[in-house]
Amino acid sequence: MADQAYGVSAEGAAPDVGVYHGTPALRLQGISKAFGTVQALQNVNFEVYSGEVVGLVGDNGAGKSTLIKIIAGAYVADRGEIFVEGQRVNISTPQDATRVGIETVYQDLALCDNLNVVANLFLGREERTTIIPYLVRPMNELKMESEAREVLRQLDVKIPSMRVPVSSLSGGQRQSIAVARTILHKAKIVLLDEPTAALGVAQTRQVLNLIRRLREQGLAVVVISHNLADVFEVVDRVIVMRLGQRVATFDVKTATSEQVVAAITGADLSFKELAAFDGAKEDAAKSSQGKTLASEA
Ligand SMILES: Nc1ncnc2c1ncn2[C@@H]1O[C@H](COP(=O)(O)OP(=O)(O)OP(=O)(O)O)[C@@H](O)[C@H]1O
Ligand SMILES: [Mg+2]
Repeated sequence: MADQAYGVSAEGAAPDVGVYHGTPALRLQGISKAFGTVQALQNVNFEVYSGEVVGLVGDNGAGKSTLIKIIAGAYVADRGEIFVEGQRVNISTPQDATRVGIETVYQDLALCDNLNVVANLFLGREERTTIIPYLVRPMNELKMESEAREVLRQLDVKIPSMRVPVSSLSGGQRQSIAVARTILHKAKIVLLDEPTAALGVAQTRQVLNLIRRLREQGLAVVVISHNLADVFEVVDRVIVMRLGQRVATFDVKTATSEQVVAAITGADLSFKELAAFDGAKEDAAKSSQGKTLASEA
């Protein structure tokens, strides 16, 4: 029973708490995907609201990247529907996803090492000044640089120079450029697959701050991470996948990492037992209800 405790119906009607009112920015309904005999996703529902960060967690092979790739138009689901701001959308290609305001930052970043910061930020959508319509349209370097500066300032991203090749930047700075690019692309929904996996402590901090800024700007953000400390620091809700299914949803304000780990591994601990185990704060029943938004398995 999906999200019953949380108040989200099977149709994804919004619960009336916190930021979760109105229509989700993105909602998936009944998504399934098989690769040959491997059922990577089975009847998955998913929702993220504007101004919310959702952590998508699960063990290796749980289906997280497959879900993100379906949203991003890299794979097409065998079954299921995708809604953006309540409208059913058809996402068959990455261009379809971009058109409806979805931007994805993959782990490999897809930055061009030999190009500078500004060029990377505007890759594929360079600003041009029309001198003779349709004939001569030089890129408007100054306009691009000032727009790039503005978006990096908004996001509080510190880069030594806008005109250095990105190959000379740190991992965290590069990741920040990739995320900043989603803003320049006017994204409403940003998907990040393991954004901090290869980063050091300070760089991770920079990227987590950046994710907070995206939320402040009202974007809907989905972050895949194996690092639960990062997840707990930056997300609002945690959605747990196991073996191709969504199995639990937690509110990070009340959940513990032990509960999330138990849901990830499928450990034989009921959430009620965990609540009592963590417990002594409130009565066990109330606590277990508050801590677990839903046990969907
Ligand atoms: N292109 C593909 N061809 C065949 N099988 C695939 C393909 N992509 C994913 N799979 C399979 O689908 C399942 C889910 O994989 P997926 O990459 O979505 O997992 P994940 O949750 O992202 O794992 P990880 O945490 O290791 O990144 C796995 O069993 C995987 O082997
Ligand atoms: Mg993955």
